[in-house]
Amino acid sequence: MHEHDVIVVGGGGAGLRAAIAAHEEGADVAIVTKLHPVRSHTGAAEGGINAALRDGDDWHDHAYDTMKGSDYLGDAPAIETLCEQSPEETIQLEHWGMPFSREDDGRVSQRPFGGLSFPRTTYAGAETGHHLLHTMYEQVVKRGITVYDEFYVMNLAVTNEADPEERSCHGCVAYDIKSGDIVGFRATGGVILATGGDGQAFDHTTNAVANTGDGPAMAYRAGVPVEDMEFVQFHPTTLPSTGVLISEGVRGEGGILYNEEGERFMFERGYANNAGELASRDVVARAELTEVNEGRGIEDEYVYLDMRHLGEERITDRLENILHLAEDFEGVDGLEEPMPVKPGQHYHMGGIEVNEHGESCISGLYAAGECACVSVHGSNRLGGNALPELIVFGARAGRHAAGTDLGDPEIRTGPSAAIEQETDIETPVAPGAVDSDPDVAADGGAVADADAVVESAVETERDRVETLMERDGVNHAEIRSDLQDAMTQWVNVFREEEGLKKALEAIRECRERYQDVAVADPSRTFNTDLIHTIETRNLIDVAETITLGALARTEFRGAHWRAEHQERKDDEWLKHTMIAWNDGAPNIYYTDVILEGEEKEYEPKVRSY
Ligand code: FUM
Repeated sequence: MHEHDVIVVGGGGAGLRAAIAAHEEGADVAIVTKLHPVRSHTGAAEGGINAALRDGDDWHDHAYDTMKGSDYLGDAPAIETLCEQSPEETIQLEHWGMPFSREDDGRVSQRPFGGLSFPRTTYAGAETGHHLLHTMYEQVVKRGITVYDEFYVMNLAVTNEADPEERSCHGCVAYDIKSGDIVGFRATGGVILATGGDGQAFDHTTNAVANTGDGPAMAYRAGVPVEDMEFVQFHPTTLPSTGVLISEGVRGEGGILYNEEGERFMFERGYANNAGELASRDVVARAELTEVNEGRGIEDEYVYLDMRHLGEERITDRLENILHLAEDFEGVDGLEEPMPVKPGQHYHMGGIEVNEHGESCISGLYAAGECACVSVHGSNRLGGNALPELIVFGARAGRHAAGTDLGDPEIRTGPSAAIEQETDIETPVAPGAVDSDPDVAADGGAVADADAVVESAVETERDRVETLMERDGVNHAEIRSDLQDAMTQWVNVFREEEGLKKALEAIRECRERYQDVAVADPSRTFNTDLIHTIETRNLIDVAETITLGALARTEFRGAHWRAEHQERKDDEWLKHTMIAWNDGAPNIYYTDVILEGEEKEYEPKVRSY
């Protein structure tokens, strides 16, 4: 068994930042990650980092824009922390050598992004995440932080008291991809989940194949509620054939969206009369799909994004990567032709419920970055707010796990914060666990001394792997593909009750078929069949919570559009959805949204752009 003070699960932006911060506080920290850190999906982030750096800008304005962008479902203490601390974290990256794009006078460049009242998105070409990742990885190497790369974390080592708020996390269990061993990790200070997104629950996504919701699924099964899972972001500009992202930076620089009739529909069809293409993402994604659904799309599928008028010099200076992506993946020369784009799953606003220190309700278990919900994005994230979230809340979680006192949190976590239980939701099938082979479910835990909890979790996972590898059964790929189809068809930008119920039935079927899943590849090392099989179970849990939350929330807010409920209902729905796994059955309850900021109360207004 390996032992460290702090174990960070995931080597993307949030994980690296957490590890550096914990190390700076004197902790012995290790990163355990299924990919080498510089292959993490943060490297695919194109657009930028929002930070109020310039004269004329103010972090309070950033906070206001973020709260408005969230459609008033973000929590003010988290949003204010993000916006106040983003400038210092961005400057820290600059001091570590991140190659930001710059003005002629040497200042870090900033460009407009959707939903922002000031051009405050700093960037490094259209490869900001790539440079951020490499910059922080250098710091990890420089500090000699231990990295267990190509170790796939399969489960957490958590005690099993009846009340989740009494439980403790003592470590995790990982499959060592290179050797085939199942290994225990004991964390004396804390485990920080930084596993990123879960876009593989959908079949058209900007997310990498590795984004399978491992953190949220493991935390959920261990007893941590997942928060606001119904809020999934569909980015308006993805390439139709692959889902590859075309950065909002294109529209930030002045790129224009056209329909088949050559109309600049964001203005001409009245979707966003002020901001046009730079309205927030939920607004632009719905507008594009409305154009397609009403017969004004191209090939009944997509619209055009045109940047030709920006000129070759500006495009190659600021958006060169976009030219390569359009050419390589779609065969389109962005200097000569408009690019085909359509909405695709991009980001999950929901995730593991944590407070502003990154703590979950299970002692010793933290989360940061996309897998967490703190909640800064509420029902819709603004472009350029994900990377600051990684660095601000990654650093905070790292410091806290290393024992630094960050004061009393304002955000409460865990079932004791419930204001109301869900009693009305009618589901066509019972969600949750299937009466199952315990070796496949591999749930459990023990109340014992910390080492024994980790050892028992290791034994459970070893048994699970043996079972999966020794028997014959169905392949995970068919189950995963059906799950993705169901989510893409019924839990997409436009949602209606009947479709959400069909999705729940399809998810249930996937869960039942998963009981007979087996790993065909007999090798112990580099067994991607085994990894994908375990990931698929995580995707089933994540997909179910997204769909349940979407069915329960009978209003239209931010990215969550419901055919039968065409308005935001603040009287009834100004609350966070929490889903907790109670003895294998999801339990939905609600908690308060905190609109009270440090100096002011954010009053919900009609959101228009
Ligand atoms: O469009 C983009 O470049 C993505 C940015 C983001 O998701 O923040």
